[in-house]
Order: sequence, then C-alpha cells, then structure tokens
Amino acid sequence: MTNEKVLVIGSCGQLGTELVESLRGIYGESHVISTDIRKNDSVIFETGPFETLDILDESKFKEILQKYKPTQVYHLAALLSATAEKNPEFGWKLNMDGLFNVLNAAKEGQSIKRVYWPSSIAAFGPNTPRIDTPQYGAMDPTTVYGISKYAGELYIQYYYNRWGVDTRSLRYPGLIGYKSEPGGGTTDYAVSIYHDALKTQHHNCFLEKDTVLPMLYMPDAIKATLEVMHAEASKIKMRMSYNLAGMSFSPEEIYNEIKTHIPDFTIEYNSDYRQQIANSWPAVIDDSNAREDWGWIPDFNLEDMTTDMLLNIRQLYSLGS
Ligand code: SER
Repeated sequence: MTNEKVLVIGSCGQLGTELVESLRGIYGESHVISTDIRKNDSVIFETGPFETLDILDESKFKEILQKYKPTQVYHLAALLSATAEKNPEFGWKLNMDGLFNVLNAAKEGQSIKRVYWPSSIAAFGPNTPRIDTPQYGAMDPTTVYGISKYAGELYIQYYYNRWGVDTRSLRYPGLIGYKSEPGGGTTDYAVSIYHDALKTQHHNCFLEKDTVLPMLYMPDAIKATLEVMHAEASKIKMRMSYNLAGMSFSPEEIYNEIKTHIPDFTIEYNSDYRQQIANSWPAVIDDSNAREDWGWIPDFNLEDMTTDMLLNIRQLYSLGS
C-alpha cells in the first residue's frame, strides 16, 4: 500500500475534502496529493501536499504527474447539475475535456494504474423507471451534467475495453455531508436544510415537498468509493458505473425528521428550475449489482444521518465557523 501515490483532482469539493482525509489515513499524508483550481479554508491543505490545478490545463497536469508519479487518480472536478445548467457550454467542456485529460494520461502509460471517476443519478432521465431504477435501462438525461455523466460512463468503459485503463465508477445519489458547503447540485437542498435548521430555524426549499430523490450520507459515499477502488479487478463487472443507493426521501420527510430534534423548525416551498431537473431523476435506486459484486451495504438511514449531521454542525458552529 505504501508504494501507492494518490492524486485527487477537485479535492476542495464536497466529496474531495472528505475523501482526501480518508485516503491520507490509509496511504499516509505525503502519499496523497490534493489538487484544485483554488484553495479554500479546508483542513486538507495543512495535512499534506497541495497543488493548484485546473484540469483543463493539460501541461500543468502533466507537470504534476511528472513530479509525483501517482499510481491512482481520483478525478472529481466537475460542474454539478444546477451550476452546469447556468453555463452549459463550460459544463460540457470541464466535465468532458477534464475526463479525457485524465483518461489519456492513464492510457499513455504514465504512472497511473487505476482511475476513479464519479457518475451520478443524473445520467438517468424521464424514461428511466423512477422506482427501483435498474443498472441498465433507458438512459435519456436531460441536463448537460447528466449528458456529460452518461457520455463519460461510455468513455471510461471504452478506455477499459480498448486500452485496459482500470477505470472504476459509482453513480452517486445526492451526497450529504457537513464538512463542506453545498456545491451547486439539485440534491443540495438536503445539505442546506440542516444548516438552516440550526442557524435560522427556517428553510426555503427550492423543490416541492413530495419530490423523492435518492441520497447518501458522506461516510457511506466515502466507504463505497474506497471499496470499489480497493476491490480486486475480477470483482468489478460493471465498467460503466455502478448504481449505488443509501436512502430515499422527500423534502417533507427530511423536514419532519429534523423537526423531531428542533420542534420550532419551519419550512416553505418555492420550487424553481431545479424542480424540473429533480423530476427527471429516479426516486429509488436498485443497487443490487454493487451489493453482489463487491459487497456494498450502506450504514446510514435518514434517522441516523440526521442525528449525526445535527450533532456535527452544532459542533462546527460552536467552534466559531
Ligand atoms: N448531487 C448531484 C446534483 O444534484 C447529483 O449527482 O447535481
């Protein structure tokens, strides 16, 4: 394990911040290089190497590869659904060209032996069955983000089949964590709602009350990501991206759960353009392939997650953030 060098691209995002911490726990601080287009106030800058990297800058990327010779790359930099809809051309460019830069480096026989790249429930569309969404089925994404994820899935499979690049991927549901700010996603109301519950006891929700979406608590997302990356190659039978599920709930259900802890908490519903995005996504995911192939089991349901989120956000605020 100690011969491994891990490069994380987009390490200041929701997932990256927590993934870098876990990877440093496994491989050692100096073996995990975090990169992002800019620094924020995350603790990851104090715990190991950091390089500024815009993944569209191929020559800087190659310099970093030369310098560190990473054996694994986690490529997380992307525009999420709502942000990409505001700037569709750039959303496509960043999400696709960034991926090609990583895949081509792996294909060209640089040091890289394995690549992780996340897909999303956004790769599905209105003709996908919304309940028990199967691994394979109609995929007709309607957002630029979703189109880039579906195209990316096909390309990571292509690079695996054609050039043997060991690509691994998960279709994340909405990810919920307390260590970083929401990152412009349609599911991110489910992060903001906890902060609002503690700060102002009121949440203005941009989705309608009964919009059920699949979600996953961050510790489960990290666990799944590491499991799929650490699994023996023979167990990875999906070279597009695995369906992954944790829990499913609506805004009204998460609101009611939070209310059991904070009785004065109130909510109002003012849906906007993100409602249409949410309507095109699945509600409940069938992740039986992940369970069968590499033993996926989530640990958190809505109740456990809510207790943990409120506890941790309270602590963050009492520490003065
Ligand atoms: N959380 C993402 C989004 O809402 C979905 O993958 O954009």
